[in-house]
Amino acid sequence: MLCVAKIIKSTLLLVLLFQTISVHSWKSCHETFCGRVRRSPEGFPRYSLDLTSISESGGGIAGDLVSEDNSKVLKLEVELFTETTFLVNVVEKNAKEKRYRASEILLKQAQITSWKIENRNDESITIKNGNTSAIIFGNPFKIEFYSHGKLISILNSKNRLVYETDHQNSAIALDISFVQAQRAYGIPQHADNMALRSTIDNVDPYRLYNLDYGRYRIKSTESLYGSVPVLYGYGVKQSSGIFWQNSAQTWIDIVNGPNQVDAFFMSESGALDVTIFTGPTLAESLRQYVVLTSVAPLPQYFALGYHQSRYSYMTQHEVLDVVDQFDKNDLPMDSVWLDIDYTDNKKYFTWDPIRFPDPISMQNKLASTNRNLIAIIDPHIKVDSTYFVHNISSTNGFYVRNPDGTDYVGKCWPGDSSWLDFSNVLAAKFYASLFSLDTFKAKNVHIWNDMNEPAIFENGEYENTMSGDLLHFRNRDVKHRDVHNRYGYEQTAFTFLGLMERFGSPHKAVRPFILTRSHYAGSQLYSAIWTGDTYASWEYLQISFPMCLTEALVGISFCGADVGGFAGIPDDELYLRWYQAGAWLPFYRGHSAIDVPRREPYLYPEKMKSRIRTALNQRYAHLPVWYTQFWEHTRSGDPVIRPIIYNFPSEEDAMSIDQEVCVGDNILAAPILKPDVFAVSVYLPGGESEVWYNIDDNYKELRGTGRHILYVDLDSIPVFYRGGSIIPRKDIPRQSAAATKNDPYTLYVCLDENNEAKGTLYVDDYESFSYRLYKTYLYLGFKFSDNNFSSYKIDKNADYDGAADIGQIIILRPPKGIRRIKLTGNNKKEVSDMSLTYSADNRILIIDNLLLDLRTPFHMQLL
Ligand SMILES: *[C@@H]1O[C@H](CO)[C@@H](O)[C@H](O)[C@H]1NC(C)=O
Ligand SMILES: *[C@@H]1O[C@H](CO)[C@@H](O)[C@H](O)[C@H]1NC(C)=O
Ligand SMILES: *[C@@H]1O[C@H](CO)[C@@H](O)[C@H](O)[C@H]1NC(C)=O
Repeated sequence: MLCVAKIIKSTLLLVLLFQTISVHSWKSCHETFCGRVRRSPEGFPRYSLDLTSISESGGGIAGDLVSEDNSKVLKLEVELFTETTFLVNVVEKNAKEKRYRASEILLKQAQITSWKIENRNDESITIKNGNTSAIIFGNPFKIEFYSHGKLISILNSKNRLVYETDHQNSAIALDISFVQAQRAYGIPQHADNMALRSTIDNVDPYRLYNLDYGRYRIKSTESLYGSVPVLYGYGVKQSSGIFWQNSAQTWIDIVNGPNQVDAFFMSESGALDVTIFTGPTLAESLRQYVVLTSVAPLPQYFALGYHQSRYSYMTQHEVLDVVDQFDKNDLPMDSVWLDIDYTDNKKYFTWDPIRFPDPISMQNKLASTNRNLIAIIDPHIKVDSTYFVHNISSTNGFYVRNPDGTDYVGKCWPGDSSWLDFSNVLAAKFYASLFSLDTFKAKNVHIWNDMNEPAIFENGEYENTMSGDLLHFRNRDVKHRDVHNRYGYEQTAFTFLGLMERFGSPHKAVRPFILTRSHYAGSQLYSAIWTGDTYASWEYLQISFPMCLTEALVGISFCGADVGGFAGIPDDELYLRWYQAGAWLPFYRGHSAIDVPRREPYLYPEKMKSRIRTALNQRYAHLPVWYTQFWEHTRSGDPVIRPIIYNFPSEEDAMSIDQEVCVGDNILAAPILKPDVFAVSVYLPGGESEVWYNIDDNYKELRGTGRHILYVDLDSIPVFYRGGSIIPRKDIPRQSAAATKNDPYTLYVCLDENNEAKGTLYVDDYESFSYRLYKTYLYLGFKFSDNNFSSYKIDKNADYDGAADIGQIIILRPPKGIRRIKLTGNNKKEVSDMSLTYSADNRILIIDNLLLDLRTPFHMQLL
């Protein structure tokens, strides 16, 4: 009955709301396996570890877990994965069928050989490597993890291990306690605060099950488009994490205690593979995770600029007109996006012959103004015998199959559709080869993978996605239920491959840009993400910050929200505030639904337009910062955007702040996320000795003493530079990111209490792989101390001769009475040509008219 009711409801809603709003009929915990498993230990046997069975195995130890009723014997393995990371794996001993393991995602194999058994007695066995150790207890079975001798986390501390092995049910579950933790962060994607709530008192557990959920509920534990099963317990004293390596439907209960966070992971099927990060800080836990699933590669420079999208730009003419209007109105932009309507009847890799008669000339015209085209490619393929992609896919068995082996057919944008099976290597390679079609291989064409949860229309009982019984092929048949959450991730992997292969060789390739809606652990390796089909309301603007900060904490920094909201019509104030706020998230795109009026910024009256222009120009001025941050992410794994607590881990008052965002270490933005605001309370961390410069208030100095009340107007939002930093900018407004290439840099030297500052800058050709292949880049450090300012190469062996000069240096809180500058080690310009100006009551010193070559280290003395 329930199902029928839901199907009727779905159909009605579809008719009523047209296609821009998806259907909400998702299951709650008790309607899935979760209802059964969540009661554990009630109804499930407890396990003890037979300590006599323990043997050394590879990177650690193995032993038998025996259920109290002796009905089940499981094999436990505990290995040291890296110096600070453990892998815990449980399998059924003598299992008839092997379970699907999602752990292939890990880049590394267990490799630590220096571990040893430190202690063994009747109750437990201790393994240790350096400062990291684990005590594994027999009865009750639990594992305590230690870092530097301190207890960090406990696996199975509540003795709730579930391992179902009967015919219908194959759920697994396990609990973990984060000792001395005060908050829980992670497990995106949810439209909730960064600090996760306790899922007690009728709150469903957080659910990870990739679903197409338009206009989703805010402050909810419901599933969204992506699933990253990584959770951190954060505390002022210590932090640690867990990666639950499972791509099946998963629910997670969280209980925030006064001095501990307890979590209970429940998955519908798949293997029990757990990675434990021993921290002992949040930043170290995150780096320990990112080492396993990879950092994001360096994006192209343009991808950090502004993107203009709509569902849909309907003709080739319209695409070029949008660019033209941006140019005429002096609004910078870097790409135009094509939603599904560019295709011939929703057949991906084709073009509508009437509306897009000559895609190549369109691409060339875009290229001539340094603009890019981002085309949507979804994973569903129209069932149509005259469509070559379908013909080849159905002939070769490239589709996801029904249990009886026939191709699965469901409804999506093209009507009857089948879904490419990216688990099948031949299918995936065929898909990748399609990007070499003439109309897709231009270097300014990039891809948007959407609807890849996968979304299926009118499939109510299955929550508008695939039934778990459908089959994928990965050397052997695998049920959809096991791989559900990684379907979209796999599509992006092969989109990436296709975008590389279209150039024949990495030497000729440009770095691919991909945006994906569905995502999983490791998605950062291939794609950016966004917060999906939002609505034009303040709540969706607000929630985009915790949503993206949470993604950044699990390795996916390249995140943003549709500026203006997707569905609905934003009023002017919301629209403007979204442009100002969105400039401080890594992915910056305006997008709107098919049934709302056009809303490109140039359509607004001059006053609005000019404020939006200011926001866009501010974004473009900071592109050198964003680019340098992405570069540094590739080296350290540190997120590009961060909550305050990441940079100031002992600042207890900041542990729930998720409406302010730090870009790297040195910039803090406090977007205005409410209407009618003339004053805001902004939290500045670091204490009395920490200086923050408000760049929207003439670089006025504030101290990091917590909350400050600031007056604001509609022209801008508060953004702060941290004292002690050097911020590289390009301040000349241009039409696109590429157009700034030869513009000189301005260095903002923000002196701290001790009149010192330092910073970094990364420069390369903006687009190719030469930086990797030939080390053609500059990675520079700058240092200001005792009135001496100098630059140096951080990577001595790297070099790049296409970098622009430094044209201007602006010193905030400068030393008084500087009359001249003595420059050595850089020969482009005579000292006397420089101009020196103090402004704003001597709080800013501008050194102008410079031409400092970045390749040659310089040394400058302020006299
Ligand atoms: C253990 O940590 C200390 C500092 O806390 C460090 O000096 C030492 O090198 C570490 N030992 C190992 C083996 O990593
Ligand atoms: C593929 O195309 C050929 C030739 O156009 C046609 O005869 C055949 O029926 C098609 N096969 C499928 C599975 O659509
Ligand atoms: C500043 O630079 C000058 C010239 O290179 C040098 O003599 C002096 O020692 C420097 N001062 C400091 C504090 O490094």
